[in-house]
Amino acid sequence: MTETSAQASKPFLYVVVCAAGVASGISKLITAAEERDWEVGVIATPLALGFFDTDAVGTQTGRPIRSAWRRPGDPRPFPAPDAVLVAPATFNTVNKWSAGIADTLALGTLCEAHGLGVPIAVLPCVGDALAAHPAYRASLERLRGMGVRFADPYAGDVQQGDVRPEFGWERGLELLGAR
Ligand SMILES: Cc1cc2nc3c(=O)[nH]c(=O)nc-3n(C[C@H](O)[C@H](O)[C@H](O)COP(=O)(O)O)c2cc1C
Repeated sequence: MTETSAQASKPFLYVVVCAAGVASGISKLITAAEERDWEVGVIATPLALGFFDTDAVGTQTGRPIRSAWRRPGDPRPFPAPDAVLVAPATFNTVNKWSAGIADTLALGTLCEAHGLGVPIAVLPCVGDALAAHPAYRASLERLRGMGVRFADPYAGDVQQGDVRPEFGWERGLELLGAR
């Protein structure tokens, strides 16, 4: 039987994962979300499937990672979302989402989320050179205008000592606000 949001005991969070290097740390976000009593379902872009341990994350959430559309007639594998968090968000996905392109499950989910009226937060992971592209700036403006909540830019530049700054996974949960 298909589980609905009303049947799930906890509010259901969709975590949309894009193909950025930091996606390898996605389990940290899931741990933090589960500690805050979210039930989590992960939706990955097709390319993102190669960026993190899908078996481990599937075990952690207790649900398969979704990336492809279900077949017509198949039940919905996840309940409807109570909130959506895109982490990490790539240049590519932000621009396609803003333009209303829905050619992957991840993008279709994001395009639809606005109309569902649920809170949406984004942890972008976009290098400075890409972020300077006018299309990206226009995408941020458009999505912000739709009520999407963005964390501060994260370029992931290597700092002194060959280390990268921590990716602020928990910031995404803070942006979704108190439930
Ligand atoms: C190792 C690696 C790391 C990448 N990191 C990023 C990144 O941090 N941010 C970004 O926007 N793109 C990054 N890319 C490029 C994206 O993977 C590429 O634009 C892809 O089309 C994004 O697909 P998606 O938005 O459907 O996930 C990276 C690519 C590779 C191979």
